[in-house]
Amino acid sequence: MNVIQAIKTKRAVRQYSPEAVPEPVIREILNAGRLAQSSKNSQPWTFLVLQDKERLLALSKCHPWAGHVADSAFTVVLVTTSAWPFDIGQAAANMQLAAWELGVGSGLVYLSDQAAARALLQVPENQHAEMAIAFGYPKSPEKRPANPAGRKPLDQVVRWEYWESK
Ligand SMILES: Cc1cc2nc3c(=O)[nH]c(=O)nc-3n(C[C@H](O)[C@H](O)[C@H](O)COP(=O)(O)O)c2cc1C
Repeated sequence: MNVIQAIKTKRAVRQYSPEAVPEPVIREILNAGRLAQSSKNSQPWTFLVLQDKERLLALSKCHPWAGHVADSAFTVVLVTTSAWPFDIGQAAANMQLAAWELGVGSGLVYLSDQAAARALLQVPENQHAEMAIAFGYPKSPEKRPANPAGRKPLDQVVRWEYWESK
């Protein structure tokens, strides 16, 4: 799979098989995050990996739309010192695309219940921990979405030179 194929086919996966993801595969995914670009190459991130089922269940309760975290093989909390989420967005995209190529599905989650998330993760006060990515092999081949993502047409999201065309 090349990069463009990965970008065109990757979808959010929220149903996972109970199969464990081998550690070398997990490390390859984390390494893709490590290699991401960041402002001034500051690399303001720590990837906090959760695999313990009880902890995954507890994290899944930190947002109404994070239920799939409970069934993930592992979930990575994107911990950052930066209040600007653009940097961790780069690392997230790298990890999710690398995972996709490796046959591992992923789904982003926002941790809206920050009090619960912070109590669970025990991150220091100067760190943000608002986003996480659940990873796992898709539950069954048909649970890996085959259709291209529904997206606005290119002409609707692109303007050339000026906001209003002349
Ligand atoms: C910033 C951000 C936050 C997201 N938060 C959640 C979330 O809390 N729960 C969830 O199930 N999906 C979440 N998603 C995934 C999106 O819902 C999903 O990528 C989008 O609907 C497009 O679907 P697709 O990736 O399958 O094309 C999030 C995505 C982004 C970029």
